[in-house]
Amino acid sequence: MSTLDSILRETRSFDPAEDFRRKATVSGPDAYYALCEQADDHYLSFWGDLARELISWKKPFSRVLDDSNAPFFKWFDDGVLNISYNCLDRHLAVNANKIALIFEADGGGITRVTYSELHRRVCQFANGLKSLGVGKGDRVVIYMPMVIEAIVAMQACTRIGAIHSVVFGGFSAAAVHDRIQDAGAKVVITANEGLRGGKIVPLKAMVDEALAIPGSETVTATVVYQRTNSGASDWHDGRDIWWHKLIDGQPESCEPEWMQADDPLFILYTSGSTGRPKGIQHSSAGYLLGALNSFRWVFDYKPSDVFWCTADVGWITGHSYVCYGPLGMGATQVIFEGVPTYPDAGRFWRMIEQHKVTTFYTAPTAIRTLIKLGADLPKQYDLSSLRLLGTVGEPINPEAWMWYYEMVGGERCPIVDTWWQTETGSAMIAPLPGAIATKPGSCTLPLPGIMADIVDESGAPVEPGKGGFLVIKKPFPSLVRTIWNDPERFKSTYFPEEFNGQYYLAGDSANRDESGYFWIMGRIDDVLNVSGHRLGTMEIESALVANPLVAEAAVVGKPHEIKGEAVVAFVVLKGPRPTGEEARRMTAELKNWVAHEIGKLAQPDDIRFGDNLPKTRSGKIMRRLLRSIARGEEIAQDVSTLENPQILSQLQERAS
Ligand code: PRX
Repeated sequence: MSTLDSILRETRSFDPAEDFRRKATVSGPDAYYALCEQADDHYLSFWGDLARELISWKKPFSRVLDDSNAPFFKWFDDGVLNISYNCLDRHLAVNANKIALIFEADGGGITRVTYSELHRRVCQFANGLKSLGVGKGDRVVIYMPMVIEAIVAMQACTRIGAIHSVVFGGFSAAAVHDRIQDAGAKVVITANEGLRGGKIVPLKAMVDEALAIPGSETVTATVVYQRTNSGASDWHDGRDIWWHKLIDGQPESCEPEWMQADDPLFILYTSGSTGRPKGIQHSSAGYLLGALNSFRWVFDYKPSDVFWCTADVGWITGHSYVCYGPLGMGATQVIFEGVPTYPDAGRFWRMIEQHKVTTFYTAPTAIRTLIKLGADLPKQYDLSSLRLLGTVGEPINPEAWMWYYEMVGGERCPIVDTWWQTETGSAMIAPLPGAIATKPGSCTLPLPGIMADIVDESGAPVEPGKGGFLVIKKPFPSLVRTIWNDPERFKSTYFPEEFNGQYYLAGDSANRDESGYFWIMGRIDDVLNVSGHRLGTMEIESALVANPLVAEAAVVGKPHEIKGEAVVAFVVLKGPRPTGEEARRMTAELKNWVAHEIGKLAQPDDIRFGDNLPKTRSGKIMRRLLRSIARGEEIAQDVSTLENPQILSQLQERAS
């Protein structure tokens, strides 16, 4: 049965356990529907009240929403605040000695950092950044391993009003360069090396390579955190400075830069269907409000919790549910440098046992990997501290959901399947776990105040059971403000004319069942979701055609048991079509090439070579056909309009 059929036939439903429901912040369905009603009836005061309740303002706002220049919405715009103040300083009066971070290194070493210690480190580093001339509005690229200093760097930027742009450590030098250039970064913060699964990641060497490419002249300094003992190759005097030298002698306090509510907090690059990754620009107050409120409702946050979100800070999940949401609420959280399978597939379960994690949030791809490597392994650990589980980033198949529910959660922990995006900044559709019954594979119902719906091409709502476009009908505080350097693209991508420019178009298709639950079906554009990582097919195609041997390339996705989706590339070389050994050699070369151009995460699983690509007589590549070939399906489509039907059999041939 296809995933689609199996989820549409899913009938299992799980009410929150009585004990969980009783203690939950939003307890029982009536409480949830009451909040929804409040939001429906008094939309602006609903958000205004939350912003006053959850955020500490230097100067209160007088207006909730300015929609005079829609879709460039502004929220709370005359309010003044600082995000790092909200994440650190305001906890010091009562919680100075509370543990903020429990850091577990790749090799297993553990470091605990209290709120007062984190505050001190952030202030010192913020002063260090200031000494390099970084100030309000400057862009800072952060390319770090998942260590305490990555969070210190992000918080230090927000403290002085600099706009950070974190680049995931798995991206290549070329990808780092593109982001530096687009953001016009002044400073890059990195580490000499990273460690993941016992392997070295040469971060500083990548930065050197990125900065050697013309177009990165805006960068005046590179701060290098010494993560390993091996020093750093290629030191550029006058540009490179060690982190420890930068903070040496810096004062341990730093007055926050007071910011307007809508000042940009960060830019995070993500893939779309066309062109290069787009710089998603988030605001200060609106973004923080989304992170705080969803953290409290969706994860039913209690001050006694030990929260663990396994995402890297290079992704939006690591921004909202590592750096900003949990710290803003004064939570204790685990952060982890390594990977779930190192040194063995029991790593996550051992860490949950050891740190007494109460709330665990990870991606379906990690769950599927761990099922495969040891479905019974969780039984060997004491996971009784857990009270709530979560997933994010891609659809979860009901079998993986059930395993997570039974084997990890011991049938007592609700699972919050959270649907959201880089653009939405915080969780949009997810069960409030003490209120809403869950169904395996469904992200259930929108958070109160999130006007999500499913519509057809004309913008009209569709009936239950009929799929359509997922939209959000009203602006909300944590929504992306614009695409950095490209407001036109922002407008046409997210607020298209088809819907009168009124609805936020998420880019996913979805379905709703009879009880109103949402089931996400996948992207409607040329975006792939590989192991929960978002990749544009066009980005990979551009990388392939940048290879001097390649004439043309088309990339599609195919279902993959563990990764959710895998990349398949169809390639036409400038020379003759390779076969046999030569095809295998070219496949390996092109995989390396993509790793070099974008990062390993974008490498095709499968590369097929043809003398041409299947095209209509007007020259359009028939992608649907390529998708069928990639999946090994019989070709059911009409190929009579094809210019060159004979190449289909070439493309069906695998090199290995
Ligand atoms: O297709 C949806 C999928 O991931 C996309 C957003 O990717 P990104 O911006 O990288 O953010 C991921 C982390 C928030 C969405 O358009 N997606 C995300 N969460 C889910 C999901 N698909 C199904 N179920 C989810 N819970």
